[in-house]
Amino acid sequence: MSYKNTKTYKSFKKSKYSCIKWSNYFGIYDELFKKYRNKKITFVEIGIFSGGSLFMWRNYFGKDARIIGIDLNPQSKKFEKYGFEIFIGDQSSSLFWRNFFKKVGKVDVVLDDGGHTNYQQIITTNKCIPMIKDGGKMVVEDVHTSFIKYNWYNPSKYSFINYSKKIVEDINSRFPNLKTFNFSLRKFIYKIEFFESIVSFDINRKLCKKNIFVDNKKKTINPVEYRNTLNKNSIFYKIKNFFKLRSNFTYLVFIVNALKLKKYFK
Ligand SMILES: C[S@@+](CC[C@H](N)C(=O)[O-])C[C@H]1O[C@@H](n2cnc3c(N)ncnc32)[C@H](O)[C@@H]1O
Repeated sequence: MSYKNTKTYKSFKKSKYSCIKWSNYFGIYDELFKKYRNKKITFVEIGIFSGGSLFMWRNYFGKDARIIGIDLNPQSKKFEKYGFEIFIGDQSSSLFWRNFFKKVGKVDVVLDDGGHTNYQQIITTNKCIPMIKDGGKMVVEDVHTSFIKYNWYNPSKYSFINYSKKIVEDINSRFPNLKTFNFSLRKFIYKIEFFESIVSFDINRKLCKKNIFVDNKKKTINPVEYRNTLNKNSIFYKIKNFFKLRSNFTYLVFIVNALKLKKYFK
């Protein structure tokens, strides 16, 4: 489907003020945000600029949505007269977020279209996620800045995409006995979606439950677990058979396969 047929693009075209987005974002917005349309939600966008996206979101979500805009630019306050709530502040300040959520309470969706630096994106994600309701989303756009050298000084160890990969590790650390991290968000994030230029985190504390082993206690046929069985064509199988060895060479197989996998990590 052409982006021009999406609901968010139609709302964008109807906006009374200038707004600039990337064409692929509209399909992604439709996919991520459809369940919030015509609902009484609180939607927060960081980055107001010319105000066009505030009207786009009003058109898309409908009149029951509480639309909040955040920007460093004090002139953005002028959009309050259209029924938007406007907060002036720095998205990279923890103090700003503490005061913001004290006033606003928990929200449904946060969309970060602010300054797009690693620091701004990471502090915003870390401070907003605990204040998003179950069923809500944290969406960070223009994350391609994680790969741009000029002005963004990336790729770097501390890019937003590397932080998101850390969160992938973090949510897997819910699995029993795996390492946990400082500044962990694993008790909030149920799912992460990676798109080109956009990362979306689904918040649901209830679904972040402890993972427990479940057995249906039915009759077993005592099957053989083939996980560590050597392939008959493998050199290890031939050596094992030739010397009549008992070892399955699992660690050696792991090392050899890791070397073969190198090309998939280039
Ligand atoms: C890309 S524009 C937003 C565009 C708007 N969302 C739209 O779609 O039309 C980025 C905005 O983020 C604001 N901004 C930049 N750094 C910021 C920061 N640290 N905190 C809050 N806002 C910031 C800028 O003033 C600018 O208005």
